[in-house]
Amino acid sequence: MKSIKIGIIGFGVVGSGVVKVLQKNSAEIEKRVGRKIEIAAIADLDLKTDRGVKIDRKILTTDGFAVCRNPKIDVVVELVGGTGIAAKFIETALENGKHVITANKALLSEKGEKLFQLAEKKKKLLLFEAAVGGAIPIIRTIKTSLAGEQIEKIYGILNGTCNYILTKLANEGGDFAEVLADAQKRGFAEADPTLDIEGGDTAHKIALLASIAFGTQVDFKQIHIEGITKLSAADFEFARRLQRKIKLIAVAKKENGSLEIRVNPTLLSVDSPLAKIDGVTNAVAFHGKNLGEIILSGPGAGSLPTATAVVGDIIEAARGSGIANRGMAEDSLEKFPIKKIENVESEYYLRFGVKDEAGVIRDISKVLAKFDLNIRDILQLDLKEFQREVPLVILLHKNSESKIRKAVGEINRLKCVCGKTVVLRVEE
Ligand code: HSE
Repeated sequence: MKSIKIGIIGFGVVGSGVVKVLQKNSAEIEKRVGRKIEIAAIADLDLKTDRGVKIDRKILTTDGFAVCRNPKIDVVVELVGGTGIAAKFIETALENGKHVITANKALLSEKGEKLFQLAEKKKKLLLFEAAVGGAIPIIRTIKTSLAGEQIEKIYGILNGTCNYILTKLANEGGDFAEVLADAQKRGFAEADPTLDIEGGDTAHKIALLASIAFGTQVDFKQIHIEGITKLSAADFEFARRLQRKIKLIAVAKKENGSLEIRVNPTLLSVDSPLAKIDGVTNAVAFHGKNLGEIILSGPGAGSLPTATAVVGDIIEAARGSGIANRGMAEDSLEKFPIKKIENVESEYYLRFGVKDEAGVIRDISKVLAKFDLNIRDILQLDLKEFQREVPLVILLHKNSESKIRKAVGEINRLKCVCGKTVVLRVEE
């Protein structure tokens, strides 16, 4: 039988991983697909760097568009990343009748609509398992295994860089900048880590998960995103004493016809399953009407784990299956309003920097009472890092973000409050 020919655009960490996985597992893959998968072309601007794989140099090119237009190629694998030229590669490949595999979460979550519609028009696959959670089979689980279920809530740890930093800070203490520098040195954080530590990468991933789980296209710009840069050593000490762990949690919930979708550093009870996910590992939990809860966890990044997910998609394309790139027909997708963050309810952790004098708790609790905010726990610590102020933490029972913001605004104007108040969410 004729082999399936693939063209890879982007010969970086994941691209070279894909070549390694395809070469190493070629015999098994051929048995599973019933056809050989042949790498017919690889495009990258850098053709000099040694990627540690043996390939025929004749298949190398610097022209990604030539790969997209090559009539011999059946499947194009886009691993360039970013929201610029990658979109053009995908568009050209689809226009030229190729199935497309990508790991590009930024592109699909911010500008995916047009590409998915084009794929459906051309009756081609646009698969993206590697875009969320690296090797963890999340997308296919939602689209196929859970297709008969109504998913109500997804929450997860979707960024390995942040989870590595948060785990280090919780276990060993220290300063955020030092731990970040160490993560960069070990290759767990990018040279420019902004997208990871400010929560953008996590938001891209939850946008994709919510879109396929709820049959919609989430408007990325409406997602409330908080990163982990506002956390200090004091927050980890308080969390420890409160029997909690701080994790960067992405939440997507469908309730009464609207969506709640957000990314927040969150205090979780130490006994909750996601609190136990440490280091670069990712995890995602699904809640459904019939299934209760399912949690998937595993390596969320890295060359070979991510490549494995890409190869899974290549195999799906090679086997040939129906087109439901986002889990349902494009004309069945619905639009749901996204809840304003001010109206989202949760429990809260407030860390104030206050003067060490009489009456502080009285003044703060007076404001909280004015907004009907009920205190759940209160803790003040004499920490060395605070010299002129004392850190005071108040945990609040469930309430809306709008009330919390108003109360914190008023508290910040009290004479006894001197530092910037840190507001975090608390979930069980
Ligand atoms: N930079 C991401 C992470 C992996 O740290 O999890 C790719 O999205």
